[in-house]
Amino acid sequence: MEETFVLIVGAGPAGLGIAACLTKKFIPYIVLEKEDCCASLWKKRAYDRCHLHLAKEFCSLPHKPHAPQAKKYMSKNDFIEYIDDYVLDFDIRPRYFHSVESASFDEAKEKWLVEAKDIFANASKFFVASFLVVATGENGKGYIPNIPGSNDFKGDIIHSSEYKSGREFQDKNVLVVGCGNSGMEISYDLCNSGANTSIIIRNPVHVVAREMIFAGMHLLKYFSLPIVDALVTLASTLKYGNLSKYGIYRPNEGPFLLKATKGRSPVIDVGTIAKIQSGEIKVLTGIERINKSKVIFEDKVELSFDAIIFATGFKSMACEWLKDYDFILKNDGFPKNHFPNHWKGENKLYCAGLSRMGLQGVSKDAIVIANDIEMVLRTMLRN
Ligand SMILES: Cc1cc2nc3c(=O)[nH]c(=O)nc-3n(C[C@H](O)[C@H](O)[C@H](O)COP(=O)(O)OP(=O)(O)OC[C@H]3O[C@@H](n4cnc5c(N)ncnc54)[C@H](O)[C@@H]3O)c2cc1C
Ligand SMILES: *[C@@H]1O[C@H](CO)[C@@H](O)[C@H](O)[C@H]1NC(C)=O
Ligand SMILES: *[C@@H]1O[C@H](CO)[C@@H](O)[C@H](O)[C@H]1NC(C)=O
Ligand SMILES: *[C@@H]1O[C@H](CO)[C@@H](O)[C@H](O)[C@H]1NC(C)=O
Ligand SMILES: *[C@@H]1O[C@H](CO)[C@@H](O)[C@H](O)[C@H]1NC(C)=O
Repeated sequence: MEETFVLIVGAGPAGLGIAACLTKKFIPYIVLEKEDCCASLWKKRAYDRCHLHLAKEFCSLPHKPHAPQAKKYMSKNDFIEYIDDYVLDFDIRPRYFHSVESASFDEAKEKWLVEAKDIFANASKFFVASFLVVATGENGKGYIPNIPGSNDFKGDIIHSSEYKSGREFQDKNVLVVGCGNSGMEISYDLCNSGANTSIIIRNPVHVVAREMIFAGMHLLKYFSLPIVDALVTLASTLKYGNLSKYGIYRPNEGPFLLKATKGRSPVIDVGTIAKIQSGEIKVLTGIERINKSKVIFEDKVELSFDAIIFATGFKSMACEWLKDYDFILKNDGFPKNHFPNHWKGENKLYCAGLSRMGLQGVSKDAIVIANDIEMVLRTMLRN
């Protein structure tokens, strides 16, 4: 049984950000991480051509701005390098291969009891902490919808988090399901690699250029959200025109409002739209069912595919291990309280990186959580 002040579960950007803030405050902590490295989402589960789609000033962690010479839109590898430097700079030493299996609050002792499986040693380890921070991310597990017949599909079914590059799909008929940023970018990548690419677009989406979001994020400092939304929508309409003939419809709410209220990001176009307009990427309607190698669509069209890539999002897995999750989370693993009060629960339980606000949200959470822990510790020590 090992005791510490703060136990942080997860060594992604959120867990590392909090660790750095606590290091600065000389507050002892332990970070447990199930993988063999930090930022495993970026190192193991992101496709090769992935770049940060927000400018670097919105993607840094506390106490370490990106270098002036870093590219405005960093590549995955540049971002990974930044994270590895971060870990060294703040001397963060996550316990790798430690998968947290359960965490519960001991009312009598007023402490958190945490059980982790040491995967390397194949043994259970127990920890006690006054504060517990959930930093296991919004992308715990890839979500694939249940489609009749999918178990008997003759080709490959993969989730976007397993997709690396289009190389292995050259000359194949590939169907991408989902039109968020991952689905759109993977379609583009597949098409460039010589795959016959189709994408299913069913939900309304805002398609924007990354510079529009960059301008919008700065304009938000001076103008109200509806005004910025109107400007960004206007800019997007001027650039892309009316895309409804390709099955792409704009939501009624503006892009920043949708992000703030529902956590839905606009699609930042990397070149996919031009390929849809030229017919290189085909847009299809929803799937009704699958029969061997054939996909039957809602409009009764039947087409054969060699592979289906589901870019249909992720599930937070925190409720699986956090037994007392109702102190802070809903059943779906996301915070009970609305932004900006989402990060604090009862009994010294916190969550970072679950507000669907990307790295900027991760960084803000880390700062407020570390400050709150410091404040609570001060009062505890005074009494
Ligand atoms: C393809 C892709 C591109 C993205 N691009 C951007 C972008 O451009 N800009 C942006 O702001 N955001 C982007 N995001 C959002 C992304 O979620 C954040 O950037 C960031 O990685 C979130 O950090 P996190 O620490 O909250 O979660 P994660 O990075 O997911 O880290 C969670 C960590 O917890 C570990 N863990 C999970 N369960 C356990 C357990 N039970 N025990 C121990 N450890 C556990 C995991 O192994 C992981 O290392 C992108 C996401 C994806 C998938
Ligand atoms: C790990 O430990 C469990 C029991 O503690 C045992 O059943 C299992 O075989 C072990 N696995 C390996 C790979 O050693
Ligand atoms: C490419 O995919 C489309 C389905 O979107 C299909 O109609 C077409 O026949 C495919 N082309 C080839 C050469 O297989
Ligand atoms: C886009 O075009 C469709 C038909 O071509 C039309 O019905 C729709 O009103 C147009 N949308 C806008 C916003 O102009
Ligand atoms: C699947 O397709 C075959 C013909 O290719 C047909 O005989 C069979 O009934 C279909 N199955 C379903 C469940 O639609």
